Amino acid sequence: MTHRVAVIPGDGVGPEVVAEARKAVDALDAGVEWTELPWGSSYYRERGTMMPGDALDVVRGFDAVLLGAVGDPSVPDYVTLWDLLLTLRQGLDLWANLRPARLLDGIPSPLAGGPAVDMLFVRENTEGEYAGVGGRAHAGLENEVALETSVFTRTGVRRVVRFAYELAQRRRGLLTSATKSNASRYGYVLWDEVVEELAAEFPDVQHEHVLVDALAARMVSRPLTLDVVVASNLFGDVLTDLAAALQGGMGMAASASLAPGTDTTPLFEPVHGSAPDIAGQGVANPVGAIWSAVLMLVELGEPIAAERLMRAIEDVCRKGIRTRDVGGTARTSEVGDAVVQSLRDH
Ligand code: NAD
Ligand code: IPM
Ligand code: MN
Repeated sequence: MTHRVAVIPGDGVGPEVVAEARKAVDALDAGVEWTELPWGSSYYRERGTMMPGDALDVVRGFDAVLLGAVGDPSVPDYVTLWDLLLTLRQGLDLWANLRPARLLDGIPSPLAGGPAVDMLFVRENTEGEYAGVGGRAHAGLENEVALETSVFTRTGVRRVVRFAYELAQRRRGLLTSATKSNASRYGYVLWDEVVEELAAEFPDVQHEHVLVDALAARMVSRPLTLDVVVASNLFGDVLTDLAAALQGGMGMAASASLAPGTDTTPLFEPVHGSAPDIAGQGVANPVGAIWSAVLMLVELGEPIAAERLMRAIEDVCRKGIRTRDVGGTARTSEVGDAVVQSLRDH
């Protein structure tokens, strides 16, 4: 069976890490056929848009999208991200963003004692603080106003929280919900209520409400007490950079944007951005991108290939073939080559 995957290498280190993910997937012979889409900041500089007007329809014609990163110092971030990444996530209604955070053997922990880290973040991916509702008035005047309004819908919260409960059921049976319903009185209070309501459907899952500030501290001080964490769009964003650091660094973290239970084209991307500070040097860590390809293979219905690729990533980390951000000296392509070699050896 052939899987048609659209690749958006994007900006900065995006093309460098995506090339390694493609190489690894090709070595699996899982029937993935790639179509490269040149969307991103160079496309924008030539044509004034990050992607063509029919981009959502184009993407709907594929079984999955693998994206590198978006963002270029020459274009404002709110333009590039709203025109591409957020348009894909929101326009395709990919409401669940999965971000596993696991510290692999061989990767140095930033924490003393190197405690195990194995958490799964489920980030709401279409609304909340990223709803895009707001505006500005009285530009340049002393009384200039800027409003950025969060939007929480019962349907939107319920679907992502239910999905998180289901995932917790399949893992260690603990769901932690992160909100800030002491200072904020509306959206996060609705969120907390939905978590309580759904608890009845999942008697085998232990759930807890933790204020997001306290949760940030607990992720560092007692990471192993966390299993599945469900959070709003912004809180999930912030917490997963912290989670990435706990698994070695930004270059290690993977993500999947999904609409579970539908046949909507899912989107896979490393958690990190375009890393302009190291772009073009061949030193970016490709593990987050390769791990995102593992998540993609699962969604494409190739669990055996996914498992093999994850084992290969683990093998390479264990052997110490790492980029400099995780304490090694290997170049981006050397890590990719090592993953391919590991697949051949096992
Ligand atoms: P960033 O994730 O690009 O970089 C943060 C730090 O992590 C930098 O020091 C960088 O060198 C390091 N880093 C990131 N990826 C790495 C990798 N693969 N290997 C080794 N080190 C890595 O975040 P930023 O600097 O805040 O943002 C840069 C640009 O990327 C901005 O334009 C931002 O809007 C955009 N961005 C895009 C995405 C995305 O496309 N998914 C995600 C985050 C940020
Ligand atoms: C991420 C990124 C994006 C987000 C930005 C680039 C819009 O930080 O995927 O974590 O906030 O969702
Ligand atoms: Mn982020």
